[in-house]
Amino acid sequence: MERYGLIGRSLGHSRSPELFAPIFAREGLTRAGYTLFELERVEDLPALIAAHPDLRGLNVTIPYKQAVVPLLHGLSAEAAAVGAVNSIRIQEGRWLGHNTDIDGFRALVDPHLRDLSAQGGAVRPRALVLGSGGASRAVAYVLRELGVRFRVVSRSRERGDLLWEQVDRTVLGVCRLIVNTTPLGMWPRVDEAPTLPYEALTDRHHLIDLVYNPEDTLFMQRGRMAGATVENGLVMLRAQAEAAWRWWHDPPAG
Ligand SMILES: NC(=O)c1ccc[n+]([C@@H]2O[C@H](COP(=O)([O-])OP(=O)(O)OC[C@H]3O[C@@H](n4cnc5c(N)ncnc54)[C@H](OP(=O)(O)O)[C@@H]3O)[C@@H](O)[C@H]2O)c1
Repeated sequence: MERYGLIGRSLGHSRSPELFAPIFAREGLTRAGYTLFELERVEDLPALIAAHPDLRGLNVTIPYKQAVVPLLHGLSAEAAAVGAVNSIRIQEGRWLGHNTDIDGFRALVDPHLRDLSAQGGAVRPRALVLGSGGASRAVAYVLRELGVRFRVVSRSRERGDLLWEQVDRTVLGVCRLIVNTTPLGMWPRVDEAPTLPYEALTDRHHLIDLVYNPEDTLFMQRGRMAGATVENGLVMLRAQAEAAWRWWHDPPAG
């Protein structure tokens, strides 16, 4: 029996088991199990792994994506760059961390960037990244890798990010890709949305919401009303699960 699972503090609403069931079926793993492990403290991870010698891989969620890093034996280059891990490979007593939000966001953003580039001719697309947490760092990593200039919008003046009140028509006129990495609008607070001058959006804007529950967020609805192309985080969610599977079984060389 091969076991996989998820660590986090409160996992009642996790969709991970339903994401991995079809992957296990496709790979012919009839005896694989996926378990939700609620940990009070991330320091309990070594005891958890010792108690489950059949564990091959783990996913990591809130609030342990950064806190787990010092407990690991190694990191992928991407996980090291963003300082956060959401997938751990357990192999011959070594625990190796990777950040598959990066793989997930690459898959999600790619068609939008192709569209924006086609519309913009020689003008390279620019982006706004709303929020500065863990997912924002993965998004920033991918945008940097793809050569897309962007600004992060944050409630904090630290790091030189844009403040929300600075996002006006002029900023939206320049940034035609807008990525929501805040939890605003996520169930159960579905009547919340990032504060933006939505009336300045056009049919040349692309709005990506990393939120996938609900599948149609208020951010997306407001963008759609203004004519923008909108998409939720489901493609990213599925792509990051596939990337976790690859990390557990077929890690990149080097
Ligand atoms: N689709 C996927 O596969 C996928 C993957 C990862 C995450 N997500 C989703 O992305 C969202 C963020 O996840 P995360 O792990 O990055 O969370 P996180 O580390 O808590 O970061 C969220 C950031 O959003 C900003 N924020 C939070 N509350 C806000 C508010 N009331 N008003 C304005 N800004 C606020 C904060 O940035 P500032 O402190 O700078 O203001 C915060 O750092 C969640 O909804 C999560 O479900 C989806």
